[in-house]
Amino acid sequence: MLSDASPSALLLLLLLLVAALYLLAPPLHPPFPRSATRPLTQVPISVNYHFTRRCNKSCGFCFHTATTSHIEPLPNQKEALRLLAAAGMRKINFAGGEPFLYPKPLGAMLAFCKRELALESVSIVTNGSLVREAFLREHAEDLDILAVSCDSFHEETNVAIGRGEGDQVAQLYRIAGWCRKYGVLFKLNTVVNRLNVREDMNAHVAALKPFRWKCFQVLIVQGENDSAERLRDGNKFTISDGEFDEFCERHRGQACLVPEPNRLMAKSYLILDEYLRFLDRTGKQPSRSILEVGVQRALESVYWDEESFLERGGLYDWARPEGEKGGCGGASVEELDW
Ligand SMILES: *[C@@H]1O[C@H](CO)[C@@H](O)[C@H](O)[C@H]1NC(C)=O
Ligand SMILES: *[C@@H]1O[C@H](CO)[C@@H](O)[C@H](O)[C@H]1NC(C)=O
Ligand SMILES: *[C@@H]1O[C@H](CO)[C@@H](O)[C@H](O)[C@H]1NC(C)=O
Ligand code: SF4
Repeated sequence: MLSDASPSALLLLLLLLVAALYLLAPPLHPPFPRSATRPLTQVPISVNYHFTRRCNKSCGFCFHTATTSHIEPLPNQKEALRLLAAAGMRKINFAGGEPFLYPKPLGAMLAFCKRELALESVSIVTNGSLVREAFLREHAEDLDILAVSCDSFHEETNVAIGRGEGDQVAQLYRIAGWCRKYGVLFKLNTVVNRLNVREDMNAHVAALKPFRWKCFQVLIVQGENDSAERLRDGNKFTISDGEFDEFCERHRGQACLVPEPNRLMAKSYLILDEYLRFLDRTGKQPSRSILEVGVQRALESVYWDEESFLERGGLYDWARPEGEKGGCGGASVEELDW
């Protein structure tokens, strides 16, 4: 019957339908207040603090590069850390950019977090190249975990990805040795992407004995000002879920392997940026600085997926137990999980 109606009659029918639906619909409510769906007070249990964005590499899949960057004066950073601890922070991870571009403030913050704030877990993520034995000797007591990013054990692949200068693997072994020597848990982070997805890393991982090997499926995150060209570049690195699974399957013998597939990859990390603002994980405006508005107001103004953080065991990688050195498949791993 409808098939032989004229187009204008159909249009009229459609309009009537829309009008009827509009009239019958319940009145619009303002969006539910946050308190309807989540606890009134959010607790920033675990914070990733990107205190510098500075990094002079340009990994093809990383969109957060800057060769110069703002960095807050140390007293401000300490005050922010103090506020976070008062709000319930128990774990902090220092990230960048490259944290070891600023070893002095970094060391001072480690000491502050461990000695004054008594945080349970203090960690750093680094590309490794600027890590020195003297730093670890001096700061090991205030550092639970050192995570080093390494995407390939073939230097050509590292160069192709954009983050190698040909010495990364040797440096990785040095760092693993220093961590063992000074009692810091050594962790390995690998971004699995188009260029390394076929690699067999078993021998190196077994030799390096990280207490945990986190493998992330490459995720291209669009920044505010990314050009189409930049996105296309990034997409050269993406792999399918199946390819990622194959990579993990190939390395299933490594008990320390923790896969982080893209489908789980969370908006759940709470990120504090170099201006002491929380980032909104849906890409909206960051919060105001926590020094200006306090931790709670800053948290309320951004979205982060606190529930999924807890669900997927985001509390992993806790403090280093006394006298425990870890090791791939070592007994420490279970104790560290929450
Ligand atoms: C690590 O970061 C520093 C500072 O940006 C850079 O000079 C160095 O080449 C990087 N090393 C690797 C292996 O990515
Ligand atoms: C940046 O990278 C160059 C080599 O690409 C290196 O010589 C220089 O030391 C790096 N700068 C810093 C601050 O690490
Ligand atoms: C993006 O571009 C606008 C306008 O050029 C600029 O004001 C803003 O700071 C840029 N944002 C970033 C993150 O570079
Ligand atoms: S080294 Fe890290 S921060 Fe620097 S460009 Fe590569 S992924 Fe990004």
